[in-house]
Amino acid sequence: MDSKSLVRLPEPRRDGPLSVEQALLNRRSTRAFNNDPLSLAELSQLAWSAQGVTSPRGYRTAPSAGALYPLEVFIFAGRVEGLDAGVYKYDPRHSVEKIAAGDRRADLARAALNQSFIATAPVVFLFCAVFARMTNKYGERGRRYVFMEVGHAAQNLCLQAVARGMGTTVVGAFQDDRVGDMIALAPNELPIYIVAVGKI
Ligand SMILES: Cc1cc2nc3c(=O)[nH]c(=O)nc-3n(C[C@H](O)[C@H](O)[C@H](O)COP(=O)(O)O)c2cc1C
Repeated sequence: MDSKSLVRLPEPRRDGPLSVEQALLNRRSTRAFNNDPLSLAELSQLAWSAQGVTSPRGYRTAPSAGALYPLEVFIFAGRVEGLDAGVYKYDPRHSVEKIAAGDRRADLARAALNQSFIATAPVVFLFCAVFARMTNKYGERGRRYVFMEVGHAAQNLCLQAVARGMGTTVVGAFQDDRVGDMIALAPNELPIYIVAVGKI
């Protein structure tokens, strides 16, 4: 791997200014973001909340049936201080690898039925899944486990964003093949959920 395309993220904070109760109370889908970029520390915090490793055994912030972790997290970075615009893949040991250069948020917005707010969010997360990691063990039932898990991870991300003065909107309406093509997704993977994040 080209070492230049790998960015180690700053250590995430383990404390914060808002209670879980306040984050739950304040979370609201936000489709209008101000012009402030995100810092690399904020991006780090968001990625960690979704899928970061929190135990020496490799367990993560979100639960996973059988600890099989079928999710892959991609980050469309548009305006992040200290990070080139591009598409990145998150490694839960807390780094990102650039998989495509340049700002691709507008393409993602078009693939999401022209939901233009996606192009204005400084950062957009995309959750994909390798279903076989679940179905190899749990058969057809493993498919529903994947959808349960992505809900856990996305909700972590939404609440973490609120706790740090950011807003989110989750997006389920998009064309799978167009989104998959943007990140050269393997045939056994599926894009499931988009989460647009920005300052409010
Ligand atoms: C599975 C799912 C898919 C969604 N897809 C979209 C979407 O494509 N575009 C959008 O703007 N909001 C989407 N939303 C957000 C809902 O519109 C929003 O959660 C709902 O209006 C309630 O508002 P709140 O999130 O502020 O509580 C989705 C929510 C869920 C749970």
